[in-house]
Parts: sequence; C-alpha cells; structure tokens
Amino acid sequence: MTDQQPPTQQSRTQGNPDYRDAGLRFPDGFVFGSATASYQVEGAANEDGRGPSIWDTFSHTPGKVWNGDTGDVAADHYHRLEEDLDLMTSLGLQSYRFSISWSRIQPTGRGEANQAGLAFYTHLVDGLLARGIRPIATLYHWDLPQALEDQGGWTNRETAYAFADYARIVGEELGDRVATWTTLNEPWCSAYLGYGSGAHAPGRTDGEAALTAVHHLNLAHGLAVLALKEVVTNDPDFSITLNLHVLRGEGETGPEAVRQIDALANRVFLSPLLKGEYPADVFEDTKDITDWSFVRPGDLDIIRQPLDVLGVNYYSTTLVRLWDGVSPRQNSDGHKDVGGSPWPGADRVEFLAQPGPYTEMGWNIEPAGLEELLVSLHEEFPDQPLMITENGAAFADEVVATPDGPAVHDAERVDYLRRHFTAAHRAIARGVDLRGYQVWSLMDNFEWGYGYSKRFGIVHVDYDTLVRTPKDSALWYAKLVGSGVIPK
Ligand code: FCB
Repeated sequence: MTDQQPPTQQSRTQGNPDYRDAGLRFPDGFVFGSATASYQVEGAANEDGRGPSIWDTFSHTPGKVWNGDTGDVAADHYHRLEEDLDLMTSLGLQSYRFSISWSRIQPTGRGEANQAGLAFYTHLVDGLLARGIRPIATLYHWDLPQALEDQGGWTNRETAYAFADYARIVGEELGDRVATWTTLNEPWCSAYLGYGSGAHAPGRTDGEAALTAVHHLNLAHGLAVLALKEVVTNDPDFSITLNLHVLRGEGETGPEAVRQIDALANRVFLSPLLKGEYPADVFEDTKDITDWSFVRPGDLDIIRQPLDVLGVNYYSTTLVRLWDGVSPRQNSDGHKDVGGSPWPGADRVEFLAQPGPYTEMGWNIEPAGLEELLVSLHEEFPDQPLMITENGAAFADEVVATPDGPAVHDAERVDYLRRHFTAAHRAIARGVDLRGYQVWSLMDNFEWGYGYSKRFGIVHVDYDTLVRTPKDSALWYAKLVGSGVIPK
C-alpha cells in the first residue's frame, strides 16, 4: 500500500512479512507522541515538599536496583522542563504522555495539596498547550507515597479511596486542560511485581497480597474516574493503561498454560474494567491462596466505567507451557528474576525463551504480536477505542562525534519502531479503532530494577552532564510525525 491509498483489508496480505514497510500513511487525527513517567525522569526527589515514594525507599535499599541507582536526579526533567518542552516541539510531537508524582501532590498520600507540586504540573500542562502538544496525564505510574505503603499499600482498601481523593485534587487543578486522564499505568506490574515477585517496589513476595492489590488497583481506577468526572470542566478522555500479555503456547500443555496466564495477566483486569465481572477461572486457580473476599458488593459497578480509550503497552510476546516436573525448569518471563513469583496460583507454568532478535532487555522483537494484540482486543471489544501508550526498545547506544555535532546512530531502534508502526498500521487496516501511539520513551531514564543500564529514549541523556542528544530514531520519528507516513 502506498501513501496515496487509504488503509484497506488487502494490506493484510500485501505487507512485508518482516514488517519493514515504508510509505504507509496513518489516518488524519492519529496522535503521535512520546511518553515518560515521573520517577523515571523527574529527579528533584527531595525538593519543593515532595514526600518519599515506595520507589525512593526501594531504590535506596541496597541490592534492589542495578548499581545502586536511584531516581534522585534521573534525567532532571523537573529542572529542565522548558528545555524538554522545546525538545518536544523540535521533534514535532503532537502529544506527551507523562505521569504525576502522587507524593509531590500529597507528600504522605493524604491531606492538603502541596502547592509547589501542583505548580510543577501546571507549568508542564500549560507549556504543552502553549506549544500545541496534547497533555496525556497518568495519575499513577508506580510511585505510591511511602506513608500509604506503611499502612499496607495496595493491600489496604483505603489506598483506593485515598487515590480517588488525590485524583480529585489534581482534577480540580488541571481538569480544564488535560486531554486524556489515565488512572493507572500497568497495574499488573504494581500488583504482581510489587507484591508478588518483589522485583519492584515495595518488594513484597506474597501471592495473596498481589491478588488483593489487583482488586484494590481496579477499584482505585473506578473511584478515580468517578472523582475526576465530578470536577473536570473540559471534555477529556478517561483511560487506563494495561500491559496485556500476548501469549503463545508450546506443545500439548500450551493452551492450558496460556489460559492460566491470560487469566492472571489480562482478563483479571479487562473483565472487571470492561464487563463488570472477574473471570471465574481466576477464582478457581487461586482458591488455595485467597477466597477473594476483598471484593465487596458494588465494587464491580464502580470498576466498570466507560473508557473513552484503552491504553495498550506492548514490547514483546510470552511463550508458555506447563512444566513436566522433571526436566530442568526454564523460567524467563522477561522480568527481572529476584526469586519470588509474579504468578500466584500458576506454579506449573513454565516461561520459555523465544527466538530472537532481542532488545537489550532480552525481550524478543515481534511486531506481529502488536498487530495480534490490537486485532484481538478489537474483536472482543469492537466498540472500544485503543491507544498505544508505550512501545519502544532499549539498545546500547553510544554518542559519536560527527561533523554536524554529536549523534547517536541507533539503527536497531529505528528498525524496531518502523516494524511496530507498521504493525499498528496493519491493525488499523483491519478495522481497529487505534487513536494514537506514544513511543517509550522521550528520553533515556531510570529503568526501574535495571537503573540507568538500559536506554529506551529516542533522545540520549548523558547522566554526567544531563545533556540531551536526539538519536537517529528521534529524527526518524520527527519525519513520521510531520508527514503521517512511515519513513524508510
Ligand atoms: C513499562 C513501564 C515503563 C518502562 C517500560 C520499559 O513496563 O510502564 O515505565 O519501564 O516498561
């Protein structure tokens, strides 16, 4: 298909099998942007009244994060806001997906708003609007105020109500200007990596706690949407972002392994959010761990709020089968292995290595998985608009001197992005209502348990000088954003 033709059904069979198409045109109105998250980029961890979050505590605990790295300085986005806004303009970005640090707004997670915290996000949103960039605000990208964790964190139902109060405060301040409100980023990670495997803050390893957190995060989403709706004065989109797992089964036991992981990773969020029910098989699979009595009457009605857009984060696929109990067990599910299980009740599931190529995270590069995910969501929820809220790749980038100044020739990232944008385009051609694409990430940043060892940015950050250098991928992306057409 060339850029003269609208997307058609035929593109399904016409595209390159390797997804390296160029010249595909996205529909008018498609929103091209880039994403970051507060703890990963802001720094200024102890300034202007910000309270500690669970990620401050976790990253300052020896042994939890690679090299002892912390988000104290990160990319120093807090102090370099104007420069970063100008950077977005220079790339022509149409949207910026950022997250708000709860503990900047409420240092202990409750009570009076910290005006300096609100002021930062006011400047950010105003700066975006002044440049014609659409603000996509995420209320929670994993940085729970530590004081709330001290009272049980997401295992405590009260945290969901505190979250709604926080949403209301932010909504009162920014609810005339934000275009899209995303309540939570990847609650799967908050619940299962935070409370199950312990790879993420707060680092607990308790299957029942993880499942309890799942429900309280779902509840928090519903309560926050209701609170925001009471205070916003424009007509924003309400949203949540999920990291749905694209599962493939191997061998005879593949389908059963897929069913179990699909239940824990995907349906335990999608079903309450979009259908108002929990999947029965999750209750059955986890009955030795919990009786789910933390789900109270009325909760599911709160959780099921119409979503103007569902945020989808995609990086790679997951291959599973049931372990035979005899052969050496493989268990690489793509997340940092710190001993605990992120899969309560799925003890027999084995996660298998997949064919490459791989990114620097060891994640397999599989653009077909993105097309598959978008199409399958569309088939199950035909009226649900979707937005890719994260997609991107880590590679070991180097700054080189050129006659035109410093440059980063990140050909692998350009290739990754081209192939995934092609996958997204094919999904649109197959009828998926896909509204936009937020590349992860605008700039290199603190990659959670991996610290600063993994670079996902389309803009390079020198962590000694904090100098920003747009990589070749940023320049490639600027061409895509400017023309709406996938460049070579
Ligand atoms: C996602 C997170 C994001 C970033 C990318 C690589 O799971 O939402 O913060 O770490 O992975």
